[in-house]
Amino acid sequence: MAATWLSNAVFYEIYPQSFYDTNGDGIGDFNGIIEKLDYIKGLGCNALWINPCYDSPFKDAGYDVRDYKKVAPRYGTNEDLYRLFEKAHEKGIHVLLDLVPGHTSEEHEWFRQSQKDEQNEYSDRYIWTEFCFEGAAGLPYVGGESERSGTYILNFFKCQPALNYGFLHPDKPWQLPMNHPEAIATREAIKDVMRFWLSHGCDGFRVDMASSLVKKDDEKKSGTSAIWRDVRRMLECEFPEAAMIAEWSCPPQALRAGYDMDFYLNNRNNGYSTLMRDYESPAGDHSYFKKDAGGNINRFLDEYMSWYEDTKDLGYISLITCNHDTIRPSYNLDVTELKLAYAFLFTMPGVPFLYYGDEIGMRYQKLPTKEGGYYRTGSRTPMQWDESANLGFSTADSCDLYLPVDPSDDAPTVSVQEKDPASLLSTTKALLALRQQYEDLQADAPFSVICSEPGRPFIYRRGALTLAINPSGHEMTSRVDAKEVLFTIGDAALKDGTLTLGAQTFAVLR
Ligand code: NOJ
Repeated sequence: MAATWLSNAVFYEIYPQSFYDTNGDGIGDFNGIIEKLDYIKGLGCNALWINPCYDSPFKDAGYDVRDYKKVAPRYGTNEDLYRLFEKAHEKGIHVLLDLVPGHTSEEHEWFRQSQKDEQNEYSDRYIWTEFCFEGAAGLPYVGGESERSGTYILNFFKCQPALNYGFLHPDKPWQLPMNHPEAIATREAIKDVMRFWLSHGCDGFRVDMASSLVKKDDEKKSGTSAIWRDVRRMLECEFPEAAMIAEWSCPPQALRAGYDMDFYLNNRNNGYSTLMRDYESPAGDHSYFKKDAGGNINRFLDEYMSWYEDTKDLGYISLITCNHDTIRPSYNLDVTELKLAYAFLFTMPGVPFLYYGDEIGMRYQKLPTKEGGYYRTGSRTPMQWDESANLGFSTADSCDLYLPVDPSDDAPTVSVQEKDPASLLSTTKALLALRQQYEDLQADAPFSVICSEPGRPFIYRRGALTLAINPSGHEMTSRVDAKEVLFTIGDAALKDGTLTLGAQTFAVLR
């Protein structure tokens, strides 16, 4: 594991389109992020992940990169981004960019060249079959769009042709082996992109679709993992403090592939989804943090603990409040429920991620799709700063905004919640301050479960601290090995080793 700064890192994810607009064009920009660095620091976050901000036709919100080394003019210039790195570092904030190694936009120059009939440097940069009507052995493909006679493989949407990292077991003439010079050239090209941003001051990458570089027969991910281990060796030599987090959601694989961190993402009915988003479960919503939904923390722990035990010496599991692909947690939880959920997420081992706006409980909006967002669009609306026009996001005319702001009269804002010590924002700050105060609440301190019996408080240990959660609407008691209460949300009392937790309470004890 490389980056030592991760041991007390708390990330803030910024969807740049929607964070803060300083030039009045209705879309967020780098200068806006720079202006809000003190806010982010005041929140208790010391690291950023910025969604793709590169030149793009924006058919998938920037995950369709047209030029890996040039930022999209709507956010500013490369120099603005370099200045953002510099200003963030001055405040002790690290910055991760989003690396999209699996595909480019169909408008990327590499792809334009690759579509040509005559052989050139980029002919094998993407995966092409040999004939215009030839299917792609079960992989999604597009035909009829190029002068070249062949069909090309897609990685995600139609606008995102897959880059060619070779095949683990090639069985068609068009499938290159992973050690083919052209497959290696793709990997080297991505390393070159990484070097470019790292040498301009970026601190690492969140890696898009990290698990699927090698197509077909790579179920155990040995091919894709070998590529990432090779990338890690480059980083160890050239940028030893660079941090890498995978969009993989299988920490035993991702961390063995050389990643520092892997997200535990919301996938239907997985352990993470049972905490806050169990509404997709066929058995009904028993989200653990939903008051009296009859949740059971073991549905999370069963998956989490096996990953944690397996990987705790390799790297970190990252728990998230949400991300740009996920329905905001406030869709299903009220403010008190969110406070308890965040208390849990921010006191667990590993490196947590807070999605912009979740600190004030921004709401999921029902909106038509924007830039390939579909249902995800509703979690990407402008940040709600204050009571002024467009809730302080932009001075543009409201019809020119990237997305409309929350139109409700009681739309949560930073300025209102900052004044209220009982607000979600104040609680989030208090929780993150607590995490910074006690090393035992940070990434590396040991974690163990003391009690996870349904109907009883969930009690866990971090280092020398004991933590207890009662998400239900009724009081619970438990014997605990602790002498004092250090922090509470709700009402907790400790007397002669008996802990009484009022309804919806979280407590940290020593
Ligand atoms: C995952 C990203 O998080 C998502 O937003 C994007 O649409 C796909 N990968 C494709 O890049």
